Amino acid sequence: MSERTLVLVKPDGVQRGLIGEVVSRIERKGLRLVSLELKDVDRDLASQHYAEHEGKGFYEELITFITSAPVAAMVVEGPRAIAAFRQIAGGTDPVEKAVPGSIRGDLALETGSNIVHGSDSPESAEREIKLWFG
Ligand code: TYD
Ligand code: MG
Repeated sequence: MSERTLVLVKPDGVQRGLIGEVVSRIERKGLRLVSLELKDVDRDLASQHYAEHEGKGFYEELITFITSAPVAAMVVEGPRAIAAFRQIAGGTDPVEKAVPGSIRGDLALETGSNIVHGSDSPESAEREIKLWFG
């Protein structure tokens, strides 16, 4: 039983040279890369990707951030890939929620620049993979 999830290394991760670190952790977990592409993100793609957050206090900052520099988009596959990647990513707040040993817990300090995105449900994964990879 295998599923797929959409993973992004966000602009902070790409600029800090952490694509390899993220890919390495994905592979060490036992998950497999299906697609990997560096992409420029325009406002249209950003607002579709983060549609669920429209109207929230952090929304404008989030859209500005995700469109500020290229992201590495990937499709990751494996048993329980959605939950497994969310586990290795760690919680959204890299200090209060993400535990040491996770990507965010080890490598990030601020919620607004927490290095990675991972789909949060099968429905999100299907929608996001279509959005980013057609
Ligand atoms: P969310 O989907 O809640 O988190 P996750 O990335 O863990 O699925 O939020 C999307 C991104 O929005 C999050 O990674 C960072 C940013 N964000 C903030 O800047 N401030 C906040 O209070 C929240 C909840 C998120
Ligand atoms: Mg989310």
